[in-house]
Amino acid sequence: MKLKIGVLTSGGDAPGMNAAIRAVVRRAISLGLEVYGIRRGYDGLLDGDMYPMNVSSVADIIHRGGTILHTARSERFMQPEGQDLAAARIRGAGLYGVIVIGGEGSFRGMVELNRRGVRAVGVPGTIDNDIPYTDYSIGFDTAVNTGVEAVNRLRDTATSHERIFVVETMGRHSGQLALAVGVAGGAESILIPEVPLEIEEICSRLRRGLERGKKHSIIVVAEGAGKGFDVARQIEQCMGTEIRVTVLGHVQRGGTPTAFDRLLASRLGAKAVDVLYEGGSGLMIGIRGTELVTTPMEKVLEGKKEIDMELYRLAEDLAR
Ligand code: F6P
Repeated sequence: MKLKIGVLTSGGDAPGMNAAIRAVVRRAISLGLEVYGIRRGYDGLLDGDMYPMNVSSVADIIHRGGTILHTARSERFMQPEGQDLAAARIRGAGLYGVIVIGGEGSFRGMVELNRRGVRAVGVPGTIDNDIPYTDYSIGFDTAVNTGVEAVNRLRDTATSHERIFVVETMGRHSGQLALAVGVAGGAESILIPEVPLEIEEICSRLRRGLERGKKHSIIVVAEGAGKGFDVARQIEQCMGTEIRVTVLGHVQRGGTPTAFDRLLASRLGAKAVDVLYEGGSGLMIGIRGTELVTTPMEKVLEGKKEIDMELYRLAEDLAR
């Protein structure tokens, strides 16, 4: 009898998740395994909503954003009774183990499954790139590119009208996305939750720019550092000028994944199957430099992804 494994996506979707699902399914099949797709993350697992996948189930998805398995932030699964039931569902379906593609919340759930004797391996997928022990998570590169594209467009109109724009990126608890968008988009100031920056400091930079004849500016604000509209109102007060605000929101979570994300997702997904097949569990597959690395999930969850302060200082230095 063939060994069966399950795969699910959980939490916020991220471009490249489909490429990861494709890699999981196809590597598993080439190892002679059966694969079950679990729909709607842990919510679907609780309902036993799973189906057998074959090579064709993942045809034509490598370029598609979102996740064909759908996703959820399951309230029911947060409860210990939900976690017991989920573990029972996996055993009941005869699954040898599961691969969880998601972010921190999804990995916390995975650890609960491990504690209940379920084998599971995690693949980092979140546009926030806030998972430690991996340089990148699936979806980040695409979201950065989407953000930069938006900043490029806003810069055109900001220049024409000689306006200041505040652009709010996603990142509830993390400034990784805002920092990358800000540096690559040439923002004048970047506001992220990890580094305190007084509004007055932003205003004095804007004033210095004005003195040099610079009449337009882009300020990138991570969602976790404050609402873009609030930040804009405060800057309006110290600058005495009207400011336009663009909240990028969920636009950053959609779209066709970049080649970088597809490559990353393909490598991480296939490796997760190898690790699970070789008996590994309670592990996350990540990338360090160009190498794939495996880290115990408990360690990942205790860690914190630090902001690259060198990059942050570079942004300040270059934004003149
Ligand atoms: O975790 C990814 C993320 O996109 C965060 O950046 C954002 O704060 C959150 O999800 C939004 O979640 P929801 O889709 O539930 O509104």
